[in-house]
Amino acid sequence: MGLFLCVLFFLVFSATACDRCVHQTKVAYFSSASALSAGACGYSSLAIDFNGGQLAAAVPSLYKDGAGCGACFQIRCKNTTLCTEEGTRVIVTDLNRNNRTDFVLSSRAFMAMAHKGMGQNVLKLGIADVEYKRVPCDYKNKNLAVRVEESSQKPNYLAIKFLYQGGQTEIVAVDVAQVNRKLYHLNTTAIGSYES
Ligand SMILES: *[C@@H]1O[C@H](CO)[C@@H](O)[C@H](O)[C@H]1NC(C)=O
Ligand SMILES: *[C@@H]1O[C@H](CO)[C@@H](O)[C@H](O)[C@H]1NC(C)=O
Ligand SMILES: *[C@@H]1O[C@H](CO)[C@@H](O)[C@H](O)[C@H]1NC(C)=O
Repeated sequence: MGLFLCVLFFLVFSATACDRCVHQTKVAYFSSASALSAGACGYSSLAIDFNGGQLAAAVPSLYKDGAGCGACFQIRCKNTTLCTEEGTRVIVTDLNRNNRTDFVLSSRAFMAMAHKGMGQNVLKLGIADVEYKRVPCDYKNKNLAVRVEESSQKPNYLAIKFLYQGGQTEIVAVDVAQVNRKLYHLNTTAIGSYES
């Protein structure tokens, strides 16, 4: 356990050009949210709590080999009879390998695009024409956290996951330094300052 605690993380954040522009695309939905929580990002059951279960699988250009995990998008369907102007806000928890749509949403997120009482009508579309843009995630009072995965095997293998990254940037690089046990002085000020 000591070893796992004695590491420092140095994170590099980046945002790509036009990440925040409005894009036009189509979205489909999964009939079960568990498909997404068991998604490629590996959040497992934690994902169900994210964002009220409004989850999405994103195409490789948005998934970015995992760097896009945890990114949030505002998505609204273009049929104003059925859908509200603000639409729904989703968080990426999976990779969408199907190239017909940019996103596959949890059905809850898909229905959340609809006007009150029209969720089922929107589901009937199957695939909806939408606009989307990247938005900051809102984790309420949670700061960026590092979770050590159970698959970690001391002393050679450390698996970690970053949770609750707000903002509109991605963590694109992480340097990990193992601190000599004799120098076990974690500067938590420095670690905590990475919250976004
Ligand atoms: C919106 O959806 C309804 C129900 O599917 C359909 O009757 C209507 O033509 C659609 N409107 C537009 C502008 O596509
Ligand atoms: C989507 O994938 C299918 C099957 O892999 C492929 O045949 C098709 O050309 C792809 N379409 C686009 C637009 O990339
Ligand atoms: C911890 O890190 C902060 C920010 O880098 C620095 O200002 C502070 O002096 C450090 N504290 C100790 C005890 O090293």
